[in-house]
Amino acid sequence: MFLEKMLQSQGFGSRKYCQQIIKNGAIEINSEVITNPKQKLDLKDLVFSVYGHEYTYREHVYIALNKPKGYECSHQATHHFSVFELFDEVLLNRGLQCVGRLDQDTTGLLLLTDDGQYLQALTHPKKHVPKVYQMHTADAVTMAQVEQLEHGVELRNESGVFVATGVKILAEHQLEMTVHQGVYHQVKRMLAAVGNKVEQLHRAKVGQLSLDGLDEGEWMYLTAEQIEQSKFRAL
Ligand code: URA
Repeated sequence: MFLEKMLQSQGFGSRKYCQQIIKNGAIEINSEVITNPKQKLDLKDLVFSVYGHEYTYREHVYIALNKPKGYECSHQATHHFSVFELFDEVLLNRGLQCVGRLDQDTTGLLLLTDDGQYLQALTHPKKHVPKVYQMHTADAVTMAQVEQLEHGVELRNESGVFVATGVKILAEHQLEMTVHQGVYHQVKRMLAAVGNKVEQLHRAKVGQLSLDGLDEGEWMYLTAEQIEQSKFRAL
């Protein structure tokens, strides 16, 4: 691939802008400044620097964010911050999108990508990627509520029954459970359906992928192995 095209593909701007910064001497590969926009590159394990900042070539990006409270999963957030404010322009230029959504007051594992196929694989209603949530509830969790959640509940305006698996009472007001669909406010509505209320919600896992020590607001690129873990389906 030509250098100018590679830079454009990584989010550095229009082809014209990339040509300009190359000619200005901004790009170094293996400690050598390259000023020819049509320089051919081997993309395998390619590391390059732009104005002294080092980057690794990635065909697509797959990101795990530990989402903080008060951030919306939309580009045009109205009442809160946008999760996209946590990423730099180069990444945003690649067309980063959230893989599913978390409510603004939910914390935990949020995946983002610019790979449409991966997005589709994880969010398609028929794919049933399990997601583990931990929550703090307004009322003490009862065994009857656990049984109802395991048995399945109906949600208004949604067809079918919503079942939770791996339902565990962690403390009097703390519950963990796994859900297999991804409808709007699913966990909060499931708890409401059994007569309780979610006061704090945290997503701990998507597929077999967990937060792996990320602090709130921190993010990391997923490795090939972690990408596969996130696609895991139990059903
Ligand atoms: N279910 C909810 O109710 N909210 C979320 O953010 C995620 C799942």
